[in-house]
Amino acid sequence: MNLPPVIAIDGPTASGKGTVASLVAQKLGFHYLDSGALYRLVALGCQKHGLDPKNGPEIAELAKKLVISFKNGQVFLNLEDVTEAIRSESMGLLASQIAVHPEVRQALVSIQHGFRTTPGLVADGRDMASVIFPDASLKVFLTATPSARAERRHKQLIAKGISAKLPDLLQDLQERDARDSSRGTAPLFMTDGAKLLETSELSIDQAVKAVLDWYQGSLK
Ligand code: CDP
Ligand code: CDP
Repeated sequence: MNLPPVIAIDGPTASGKGTVASLVAQKLGFHYLDSGALYRLVALGCQKHGLDPKNGPEIAELAKKLVISFKNGQVFLNLEDVTEAIRSESMGLLASQIAVHPEVRQALVSIQHGFRTTPGLVADGRDMASVIFPDASLKVFLTATPSARAERRHKQLIAKGISAKLPDLLQDLQERDARDSSRGTAPLFMTDGAKLLETSELSIDQAVKAVLDWYQGSLK
């Protein structure tokens, strides 16, 4: 049986993966999976239940019980709208702490596979190409320099009316990059066969076009 096609987009924090992946999905009429939101949801659940972020087995048990849903760009945890709550920098850091546990990652595999439905899927995260969808039609490693990424995150937060200091954001981002790239299970790296998209000097439209062109090329 032929499974629907997948475009896997991996990369470090604030590189623009989510923005580019969701626009590519829109253009192609594909579904979109923001896998980072799943790790953020588990982090929020962990915080709400007062669990120790180091206790992988306990967090994995919780992850299996969480009722997670996505609707019109909003994210729900046990029917509560947590779209904003999961987006904080502190939740990103907590997500990267709980994401090191193999049991927690395993608990999220089937929900991620469930997004792969007709006509196709664009998925973004850290291990989309390496672990979750190794047979993806197109694998993209999307990145930008740490300073460009910190500036992007800064602008994004200021636009939302959230105050943030650029040096603090740069430090958080480097801490998260180091943890995500060095963990034993499913670390962030550019897999064999992935195409590098360095976006420091690219607009969102240019980055979207590059992915669409590669995808069209892969169909020939
Ligand atoms: O998903 P990820 O954390 O990788 O990044 P994002 O939330 O999609 O993008 C972070 C910010 O960078 C957003 O405000 C995007 O609009 C912006 N961005 C940009 O300025 N230039 C790009 N080429 C891509 C994203
Ligand atoms: O948007 P940003 O890149 O800042 O983060 P995210 O994609 O929402 O992911 C939050 C954290 O979840 C990351 O720092 C990773 O530690 C973890 N994550 C992961 O381990 N594997 C994924 N496929 C996606 C996210």
